[in-house]
This record gives sequence, C-alpha cells and structure tokens, in this order.
Amino acid sequence: MTRERFVAAQLPPEEAGFLRSLRPRSLDECVGQAKVREGLRIAIQAARERGEPLDHILLHGPPGLGKTTLANVVAAEMGANLVQTSGPALERGGDLMGILTNLNQGDVLFVDEIHRLSRAVEEFLYPAMEDFCVHFVLDRGVHARTLRYTLKPFTLIGATTRAGLLTSPLRERFGIFYHLDFYSEEELAQLVVRSARILGVAITEDGAREIARRSRGTPRVANRLLRRVRDFAQVRHDGRVTEAVAREALEFEGVDSVGLDSLDRELLRVVAEVYGGGPVGVEALAATLNEEVDTLVEVVEPYLLKIGFLTRTPAGRRITPAACAHLGIPIPRNARPQGSLF
Ligand SMILES: Nc1ncnc2c1ncn2[C@@H]1O[C@H](COP(=O)(O)OP(=O)(O)O)[C@@H](O)[C@H]1O
Ligand SMILES: [Mg+2]
Repeated sequence: MTRERFVAAQLPPEEAGFLRSLRPRSLDECVGQAKVREGLRIAIQAARERGEPLDHILLHGPPGLGKTTLANVVAAEMGANLVQTSGPALERGGDLMGILTNLNQGDVLFVDEIHRLSRAVEEFLYPAMEDFCVHFVLDRGVHARTLRYTLKPFTLIGATTRAGLLTSPLRERFGIFYHLDFYSEEELAQLVVRSARILGVAITEDGAREIARRSRGTPRVANRLLRRVRDFAQVRHDGRVTEAVAREALEFEGVDSVGLDSLDRELLRVVAEVYGGGPVGVEALAATLNEEVDTLVEVVEPYLLKIGFLTRTPAGRRITPAACAHLGIPIPRNARPQGSLF
C-alpha cells in the first residue's frame, strides 16, 4: 500500500496560537479572486503613496465569497481602522450621522447589505461620500436652518448580494466596483489545505480536493465542510482526512458529489415534479418550499445557475436536462431543448 502524503498537519503549538481565525488578514493570505486582489493592491499602493484615503469600494456577490474578509483586509493593508455597520442597522439619518462624525482620517467604514439602506439614510450618505460632509437640519418650519458639518476623509466599503437593488445615485458614488465570482475547485483546495493547517488537521491533497469539489464554489462552505469532516474523521476514523474519509463524511452530511445539499435538491425536484420543469416564478417556489424568497434568490439559486442546473427566463425558473440527469429523474417536457423531438 502506498503511504498517503499529508499536506497539512499539526502546527507547532507556538505558531498555532497566532492563527486562531480562518479569516485571512492580508491580500497575500487570500486565495483566488486574482483580478480583484490585483486591482485592490494597485489602488491601495497608489493611495498610500499619495497619502490619500482609498476610493469608495463596492463589493458584490453571493454570500460567503469573501466580501467581509476583503473589507477587513483592505483596512489592514491601508493601516486604517475598520468601523462596521449594515444597511438594516441604520434606520434613521441620525444613526449614520453619529458614525460618520466619529470617523478619523483614512478610516474604513464597512456597510454590509448596503442595498437595504433606507432612503433617508441613503440620501444622507451622498454628500458624505462625495464631499466628505453631512448636512443636518436644525429647527422646523420658518426657523429651519441647514448646518454643514465637514467630515474627515474616509473610505466607504459597501457589500451587497443584490447589486441590482442599489439605486443608481448610490452606485455612481463608488470609484471601485468588484463582482466576486465563485471559486474554482483548485482555489478551494488551496483554501482547505490552509484552513486544515490552521486547525491542525492532517489532510491529503485528494482529501482537500474532495471537500473543495463539494463546496459550491464558496469559501465559507469549504471551511464549514472541513470542520464537519474533521469531526467525522476524529470519531469514526483515526482523525486523518483522506479522500475516502472526506467522501464518506460528506455523504453522511447529505452533501452530494457536486456539493448540492437537501434544499438545493428539493428546489430542483419541485421545479421538475410540481411545476413540470418550469418556468415557475420564485414566489411560487418559495411558497411551495416554505422558504424566504431572498434565501432562494441570494443563497440557493446563484450556484444552481452557475453550474447550469437552472435557467432564469423572464417567465421564471426552468430546470435543465443536466440537473435531471444528476438527480436521476426523467426530463420534464418543458426542460427539453426547444425543437427537440423527444
Ligand atoms: N479569498 C479568501 N481566501 C481565504 N479564505 C476566504 C476568502 N474569502 C473568504 N474566506 C473565508 O470564508 C469565510 C466567509 O467569508 P466572508 O468574507 O465572511 O464572506 P461574505 O462577507 O462575502 O459573506 C471567511 O470567514 C473566510 O475564512
Ligand atoms: Mg459578510
């Protein structure tokens, strides 16, 4: 029997102490997203050389692809503080006012779910982003006066899973705009090896690849599956993660060979079996599945669209023959390619 080569194993304890978190802290520690990282590296270096804050940055893409991570990394690379809030947390203009007036020169303000800002807060943000000032109104009626308050130059980083929901005045105020796409199997395998090293898990190259293949192109999923596989390997085996152990653990978790979980499979089955292959509107799907529309649109669908298991047309979602083949179910009439005789 050939000896398996373990590419990650226990770190010396003194080193492990420094690596509590799986979240990368510098651009070099991040895997994948080569174009985004290179673009950021250039923008950061240029801003640093000029002694200016970085342009405002908008990051969009499905959950778990690294938006929050990148915001933290950018702040660290700029040597700046990161102040974090989110669209739903800011209800009134005053909530944002307090945060903005407390920012120091060059600070990074991270606004997660920025598509969920209220109108009032959003309008407050326009002059803050454009001219580093805010206007607030004192008194009411005939005594009303507007005061202009100058802010220290800062960088806003907005993150969104739904760029389409951003108003154009807000979108136009960002100087840097990046879409994060799903990661390749190769990139996720690198990420799994890195995380295994941090967690002190012995894993083979093939074991890492097996986890990567089933991670829906998503770093957060890869890290979560690695933890489940680690538990399984420890309790059912000798703690070491080989390809066979990873596969057994992930089958046990209900994650299939292309990374679909039970909700993914249920959605596809509903489209095929309840709606004859589609097209079906997302509201109807959400009602049948007893799920939130937002969960389907933001979390479930992007990957199914990406791997060609679902298509989105103006009339609704349709299942594809590839998805039916994967599930081992007959291809509904509506999923057959148009013009097909069968
Ligand atoms: N490029 C990357 N390299 C390594 N790990 C990453 C990367 N992007 C994300 N991660 C990991 O995935 C997890 C989820 O990323 P996060 O930034 O929270 O995603 P998002 O904010 O887009 O939902 C993080 O905790 C981090 O450990
Ligand atoms: Mg996030």
